[in-house]
Amino acid sequence: MLFKTALKAVLRKLGYGIYAIPKSGNIALKGFHYAEASPNATLAPWLGDAEFLDVFERAKRNTLVDVYRMYELWNLVAETAKVGGDIVEVGVWRGGSGCLMAAREQRLGGSGTVWLCDTFTGVVKAGAGDSNYRGGEHNDTSVAIVENLANDLNVTNKHILVGIFPDESGKLLDAKVVRLLHIDVDVYSSAKDCVNFLWDRMPPGAMIVFDDYGFVGCEGVTRCVDEFRARNDMFYLHNLNGHAVLIKR
Ligand SMILES: C[S@@+](CC[C@H](N)C(=O)[O-])C[C@H]1O[C@@H](n2cnc3c(N)ncnc32)[C@H](O)[C@@H]1O
Repeated sequence: MLFKTALKAVLRKLGYGIYAIPKSGNIALKGFHYAEASPNATLAPWLGDAEFLDVFERAKRNTLVDVYRMYELWNLVAETAKVGGDIVEVGVWRGGSGCLMAAREQRLGGSGTVWLCDTFTGVVKAGAGDSNYRGGEHNDTSVAIVENLANDLNVTNKHILVGIFPDESGKLLDAKVVRLLHIDVDVYSSAKDCVNFLWDRMPPGAMIVFDDYGFVGCEGVTRCVDEFRARNDMFYLHNLNGHAVLIKR
């Protein structure tokens, strides 16, 4: 029992938790239903996308995001080019997903800046509804780690903002129009504050992608999205890979 408690504490510090998820059936946990989802469709276009695979291969050691979500981000950079404007990521950690988006924008010949915002001291604003977070998780990173990956990918269109977003670094964000916002902050309040701060800079068609939607232990983010989706100025889309996407009307 003591061992289990200690292990859980160590894992929590690293941002992980142990939960029993059955292979079939469903379990109710913290007000949500969970089950392993295995869609029948098998189309896997990323396997034939040499440019994506090259960037993903170099970025994968710097990310917690799996290939399915990375490929969706890769595609949404191109889709939102039709809207125009910059790209913002809050929750960069070691730069994998953010640098992948910047690499995509650069390879498309786009003029958007990719703003990479992180405390670089880990998760903040964890509250009672964020079951798996206490604050400080994912602090095992640095600006230099992100810069190294950006250099490896020849990315020159990114701008790193250090500090709590938006409270500390929001004023440094020199983006008039934001077409794509990737929120990967793990907890309710941070996710909500990011949307509220940037919403007025997002034109119709702009998209917000939430990582953490539907993962056990990230109930705060799931709840945050479910509150926003009730509004009628945005469309909601749930991708079974663990992304929720809100599209401005
Ligand atoms: C799960 S990690 C991000 C993973 C990353 N997107 C990847 O490619 O693996 C979450 C990150 O969010 C950052 N974070 C959480 N809340 C934040 C906030 N309000 N402002 C800035 N950074 C924040 C943490 O410091 C942490 O690095």
